[in-house]
Amino acid sequence: MAADENWVNVGSAEELSKIPLRRITVKNRDLAVSIENGTFGVVSNACNHAGGPLGEGRLDGDYIVCPWHNWKFHRCTGTGEPGFEEDRVPAYPVKVENGRVLVNLAAATRRTKKPHDPHPLSRTVARVPGPLRIAGIATSAMDADNPRFSGSDHLLGHALAEAAKLGAETRLIRLNELKFRACEGYYSKSARACTWPCSITQMDSNDQMDRVYEAFVHWADAVIVASPIRWGAASSLYFKMAERLNCVQNAVTIRNQVLIRNKVAGFIIVGGQDNIQAVAGQMLGFFAELGFIFPQFPYIAHSRGWSREDMERNVEVVRNSAELAEGAAMLAKRCLDLAAHLITRDEAPKSIERGGRKAHALPV
Ligand code: FES
Repeated sequence: MAADENWVNVGSAEELSKIPLRRITVKNRDLAVSIENGTFGVVSNACNHAGGPLGEGRLDGDYIVCPWHNWKFHRCTGTGEPGFEEDRVPAYPVKVENGRVLVNLAAATRRTKKPHDPHPLSRTVARVPGPLRIAGIATSAMDADNPRFSGSDHLLGHALAEAAKLGAETRLIRLNELKFRACEGYYSKSARACTWPCSITQMDSNDQMDRVYEAFVHWADAVIVASPIRWGAASSLYFKMAERLNCVQNAVTIRNQVLIRNKVAGFIIVGGQDNIQAVAGQMLGFFAELGFIFPQFPYIAHSRGWSREDMERNVEVVRNSAELAEGAAMLAKRCLDLAAHLITRDEAPKSIERGGRKAHALPV
């Protein structure tokens, strides 16, 4: 290519001046074109982190802020923000001639990446040999400093006690003791912006949802999730956790990667009034999407029905019920029995194309 041919006309300077930052494609090159104080800058559109579209981000002074997870690159030089200068996206020479913006596509700087330590959760998913392991997830919201009796927590305690008696390792995670952010909807920006491990977990070392991810993806062979019924649905903390688990399911959507393999889930649902089956239905549907397998009779539940509007009695009934305690213990046993079977056979796929949804193409 002759030297002049390297300079490609990408549009009218007047037109390109109207928007501070935009994405354009020229000769199969995806570019982020910016203008600030009358000076154009052109860098690659693809962010170093996970390929986010820089041209769809925003300007913070002379830095482009990636729309996916907010990494910053200088709009003219492509260098990362101070402290991350080793992270560079390709930058292109640009000039204005006769009212046209010209970009030299042949003279881009090189992309370089500052080494980032992988997040511990991103390690290969492989069961560490040892006794069966069961995690109990208590989703009841309460003041952790002044705990109260919770029927679902109480029965979860019976389930874990039985699991320990059967020789399993147990781990109790109370969501109300964890500080974790609500899902911030990275998936709603782009499927590929919802990463494993979760983007929030990677960016915020104070976020404690990593405990749940560690238990679900790496540690546990079985999980039992216990929830109260709140206005006919599972608890708000359950849903806060569930939304943050989108990244586990999304690994299948964007990479065909099955993170939950040979794992079992069971549920304990307790409410003063009814709607047990609707709560169970939501939980079963969601955990199935994560990749969990269910034992026969995958949940136990208790409610005294619409006409028994007397919570004090309900607490007493759950606290003193030998049948419910036994039901919780049997649920734990069913979960562990199935987990043992699944681990022995090890038949779960490691990869499944789009979770079986091949009919829907993933827009790129
Ligand atoms: S910050 Fe750009 S893709 Fe994550």
